Amino acid sequence: MKITVLNGSPKGKASVTMQYVRYIQQNHPEHEFVVHNISYEIKKLEKNTAAFDAVIADIKTSRAVLWATPVYVCLVPSQYKRFIELVHDKKAARAFAGKYAVSLTTSIHFFDNTAHEYLNAISDDLGMKFAGSYSADMFDLVHRLHQAKVLQFAEDIFTVIEEKRPVAKKYLSLKTRAFAYVPSKPAGKIDTAGKNIVVCTDVSKKGGNLDKMVSRFRDAFGGHVDVFNIRDINIKGGCLGCIKCGYDNVCAWTGKDDFIDFFNSRIICADILILAGEIRDRYLSWQWKQFFDRSFFNTHRPVLKGKQIGFIVSGPLGQIPNLRQILEAYTQWHQANLIDFVIDETGTSREIDARIDSFAKRAVEYASRGYLRPATFLGVGGTKIFRDDVYGKLRFAFLSDHAYYKKHGVYDFPHKNYKMRLTNAMFTLMMRIPKFRKKIIGGMKYGMLQPFKRIVGEWR
Ligand SMILES: Cc1cc2nc3c(=O)[nH]c(=O)nc-3n(C[C@H](O)[C@H](O)[C@H](O)COP(=O)(O)O)c2cc1C
Repeated sequence: MKITVLNGSPKGKASVTMQYVRYIQQNHPEHEFVVHNISYEIKKLEKNTAAFDAVIADIKTSRAVLWATPVYVCLVPSQYKRFIELVHDKKAARAFAGKYAVSLTTSIHFFDNTAHEYLNAISDDLGMKFAGSYSADMFDLVHRLHQAKVLQFAEDIFTVIEEKRPVAKKYLSLKTRAFAYVPSKPAGKIDTAGKNIVVCTDVSKKGGNLDKMVSRFRDAFGGHVDVFNIRDINIKGGCLGCIKCGYDNVCAWTGKDDFIDFFNSRIICADILILAGEIRDRYLSWQWKQFFDRSFFNTHRPVLKGKQIGFIVSGPLGQIPNLRQILEAYTQWHQANLIDFVIDETGTSREIDARIDSFAKRAVEYASRGYLRPATFLGVGGTKIFRDDVYGKLRFAFLSDHAYYKKHGVYDFPHKNYKMRLTNAMFTLMMRIPKFRKKIIGGMKYGMLQPFKRIVGEWR
């Protein structure tokens, strides 16, 4: 059986993910694996029609496509995203229709789920039959247990494909509406209260809904609002995955393009940061993905801490909860505050105007009060993954993060809480004695309210 492997790693053959593919290949020589280094060769695929067509030709003659990719900022690398957009732009989607699709990623399990959901949705949109996914932690394959798991996964997938088993479509097609937003003049002007407001957009069509929503947002204020189009910034390419930044946050692209200067001079100084984009497939544009990936020179440090972040989105975001989760997670792990989303998916122009005004007011109010809502699982869970990995296996590669985490108290491991350890030791011992256990369990309900007594009084 012929399988086309679309390698998403910008490192090409020197990819961790590809070692998993090689392992499967070595154990199943009866199958033919044709590998295309998509992200590594993206510039060629963009410009050279023959190179792009060669990939598509292999897909046409394959039984399945393996999306094999690292997870980059909760999704796939920007170069891979670019390829997915190219497939549609170059009208090559038909080559994928009816083929089985499989996703295989390596990562540290930080929003690997959203990357897989994305690939599942993309496959469904291409009319493929999504047969399954496998999410490995980077170094899983060195363990025998995981070697067995990888092969079990591969064998299951081969069976599904060989027996032509049916698979259900998980994602329904997106419904977009033909709606031209016509903004009206703001009734009054909102005071910026001395806050630095920065809007980053990827507007591609002058006079389109996104362009008009961004302008309407800017016009809602009495003071100055900076608006930058990320398409106008000289960005030479996506993140290379070289991890040079891990030591001191100096990116391999330093001095070669303008992204780092832009980020350090325009983004870092914002009090209120608005990110505005159009939906492209099941995410924003690849240019936005490139922006997020290239921001990785800051590694795992929450450099947007304390900022107010909001999103202006044109397109069917309400039908893509996966993307919404990614954007919420972005604000949360950065320890920023999510203002809200303004979307043109529903409502009249007048309603959108009102939402923009409310959004703008809240942005300034939150910034003035220094309001930061507590993180949910997205921020709390994500930060714990970074904490554990930077403390552990990633430490020497990310010494800059290690220094930051030590200084800012990110290493809040429970074993450092001596009072809690003493309490646990005492109560663990008491729980082993039936008489005390009964008493402790009986008093648990109200016992849990004890710490609140001095704040809100007796529970009654
Ligand atoms: C720019 C960048 C962004 C990353 N983002 C994530 C992420 O969001 N979640 C995660 O679990 N790992 C993330 N990683 C880690 C990679 O997914 C992981 O190192 C992967 O194994 C690399 O695979 P490769 O060698 O095939 O490129 C990121 C790495 C880089 C360089």
